[in-house]
Formats: sequence, C-alpha cells, structure tokens
Amino acid sequence: MTLWSGGRFDETPADIAWRYTVDHSDRRLLAIDVAGSLAHAAMLHERGLLSDEDHDAIVAGLQQILAAARDGSFEWLDTDEDVHSAVERRLVELVGEPGRRLHTGRSRNDQIALDLRLYLREACDLQAGRLAAFASDLAAQAETHAATIVPFYTHLQQAQAVPLGHHLLAHAWAAVRSRSRFLDLRSRLDVSPLGAGAGGGTSLQLDPASPARDLGFSGVFPNSIDAVGARDLVAEFAWCCAQAMVDVSRLAEELVLWASSEFGWVTFPDAFTTGSSAMPQKKNPDLAELARGRSAGVIGDLVALLALQKGLPLAYNRDLQEDKRHVFGADDVLAGTLEALTAMIAAAEFAPPPPDAWVTALDLAEALVERGVPFRDAHHAVGRLVAGLIAGGRTLVDATAADLVGADERFTPGDVSRIDPASSVAARRSPGGGSVESVHRQVAALRDALGS
Ligand code: ARG
Repeated sequence: MTLWSGGRFDETPADIAWRYTVDHSDRRLLAIDVAGSLAHAAMLHERGLLSDEDHDAIVAGLQQILAAARDGSFEWLDTDEDVHSAVERRLVELVGEPGRRLHTGRSRNDQIALDLRLYLREACDLQAGRLAAFASDLAAQAETHAATIVPFYTHLQQAQAVPLGHHLLAHAWAAVRSRSRFLDLRSRLDVSPLGAGAGGGTSLQLDPASPARDLGFSGVFPNSIDAVGARDLVAEFAWCCAQAMVDVSRLAEELVLWASSEFGWVTFPDAFTTGSSAMPQKKNPDLAELARGRSAGVIGDLVALLALQKGLPLAYNRDLQEDKRHVFGADDVLAGTLEALTAMIAAAEFAPPPPDAWVTALDLAEALVERGVPFRDAHHAVGRLVAGLIAGGRTLVDATAADLVGADERFTPGDVSRIDPASSVAARRSPGGGSVESVHRQVAALRDALGS
C-alpha cells in the first residue's frame, strides 16, 4: 500500500516500477525521522490541529517505533517506499486512525530536507571529533619527534633539514582546518526546513518555529521552495569529506613511501600491516593504500552530488532521492579512514635515516646573507661550492673551511658547523619554521585550537 494509493490511482505500481522507485538507503534515518515526526506532532497539537487524544496516541506509537529503531527490531516491508512511508505505515498499524493525521501540513519533501539536516548536523560533530583525535595523535608523534631530523621535500627532492615533527604537524594542521570546515557547515545547517510542506507552504496555521526549537535549530527557513529544493549543504558536507580524504590521502601516500626500504623512515607493528599471499618477506601498508584509494570514491560522491543538482528545476524532484547514498558513502568512508589512520599513526615507529648531505646548502647561503652579502650572490657562492664538490666526487658534508673560503672569501671557518643538519635546525628562527621550538609551540597551539 503506497502513501498515495486509494485516491486517484486505480492501479498499484508495476513490480518493475516499484523496484526502481523504492529507496532503502534512507533506512538509517529511521530514528531521526521519528524525532522529526514527534516535533511535528507536538506543533500540530499546540496549534489545535491534533486533539489531545490523537496526539497522545501518535506520541505513544512513535515512541514505540523509536524504541524499535534503537534496538534494531523495526520491521521493514518490501512495500515501504522509503523511511517516511515505513514510519507512517507502522504508526497506523500501531495506533490506527490518529496515525493518519500526522502528515497534516507536511510533505515528504520538507520531511526529507529536515532528516538530512538532522543527520548532517550530527555527522559534522562526529567527523569533527574524529579529525580532532587524528590531529592529536599526529601531534603526539610530532612531540616525540620534535628533534628527529628529516629532509623536507620539494619536487620530491630533498630540500632542507627539518624535524620530523614539523612535517607531521603539517598534516595535523590540515586536519584542524578540515575540522573547522565541518563545524562551520554546522552553523549553516542550523535552520529547520520543516513547515515548508511540499514546497509552497500551507493554508494551515502552522508554527515552524516550534519544531525548530524542539529539534535544537536556531532558525527557520525563510523560503519554502528553497527549504525543500536546495541540496547545497549536502554537497558542502561531501566536499568537507572529500577534502579531508584528499588531505589524508597525501599522508597515506607518504606513509606508503616512508615504509618502503628505499625510504626506511617508518615501520608498523604487524597488527597494522598485511602480508602477501605469495611473497613471504612482504609487509604491506595496506591501510594507508586503502585510505589513498578510497579517497577516489569520496571525490566521486562529491561530483555526483553536484551533478545531481545541476540544471535541476526547483523545487523537489525525485532525482534528489539519489543524494543519500553519496552522503552516507562519503560520511562512512571518511569515518572509517580517520579511525584506521589515527590508530595506524599512533602505532607507527619512526626511525628515519639522516638526510642527504646537501640539505643545508641554503643555511650556508644564509650565513653570508647575515654578513650583508646579497642573497643572489650568496646563492651563487654556494652554487659554486656545490659544483666544485660534485666535480671532485665529494658532497657537502665533506666540505672544509678551505672549500668554503675558496668558494667565497666572505665565508669564515666557523661556517662549517652550519653544514650539520642538527645545527641547521637549531639555528632556524623564523616563526612557523622547522625548528625544535617551533614544533613544541605548534603542538601547544594545536591543542589549544582543539580545546584539548
Ligand atoms: N524518499 C524521498 C527522497 O529521499 C522522499 C521525498 C519523496 N517526495 C516525493 N514527492 N516523492 O527524496
């Protein structure tokens, strides 16, 4: 029995039409949908549109459905078109006639818009929490490795010496921004669309502010067509997920590289790696590879949600039913990825080898700059030194005071100490730069930003 049969429809839908129409992906909205219905029923009662008895019966029935939703015992039928139809069907089974009054002044169009906002509001909080845990674990490793020297890379070539903690914190700060995007979106979600009806409003004297208040929204829709037809916030949520996944995929890629024997920066306990069915010696960083791979699907979810809206006439069209699989998909993948990688980061054992011999070339040039030499001249002087060393089959760590002074007389013998990566890091002073103090300052600032 559909919600619309018995009126103008003589026939029930053909099997093939029904199978193509129904959506089961929204079943996870069951408890949320019932919460919205309770708030709607309370408002109808306040406005005199539901008698005390009808309201009491509806509340009792909805509470029963809510309990079944919570303990997983709710029985879905093949004839339930979507979550809203299932709740109404069950309510009428439980309480009879009063259940048929619940949909007064409401449409599934404003109902699903409400359910999505309620779902996304909670999802934003949960993702923000996971991102905070992820950033905190990175910060803890950064603290441990505040003085572990690694090269940082540009063009995947070793560039300068930095603490490993500085590099890990770069990923942590990206997570902090991802978190703030979810929290920022939450403020835009804070507007209830319930009361917009099918999209044009209603002649009934509803009070949309009442369910909005009950459900913890700060505001009520200003335009009923926008309230039911817009899905920008759904796409924004997917973008928040996609950008977070893309950020995580960059760390994942580095973990894969760092775990290789070529890099040898990190090892993971057996519990966080997988073996090969063929090669007995292999220990693979599959979690990181999957995180990198799954980001592809979340980018796809975002693209699908944008494409779903493109050129769609206002207001509600059934196309919009397709938004849920992408929202839930993006939400689930990001949740699982953050949980797995947070644990993987906590378990990682970092022991990187020293950087290449050349990573302090810029520090040498800066020694001359401190003496008033124009940077371009200092750059050339160190370039000459590098060329001479390469020609002689040597590297920067082999350079002597004589080599330095030979390349530019403004070098002093003491400048040889600048070649050591540890003194390079110790001498770094620029705010936010790669020094040990900076790592500690950043960890404190990051914990402050997370309120932890
Ligand atoms: N299941 C539908 C969706 O998710 C609910 C709204 C259906 N509205 C309608 N007029 N058919 O979009």
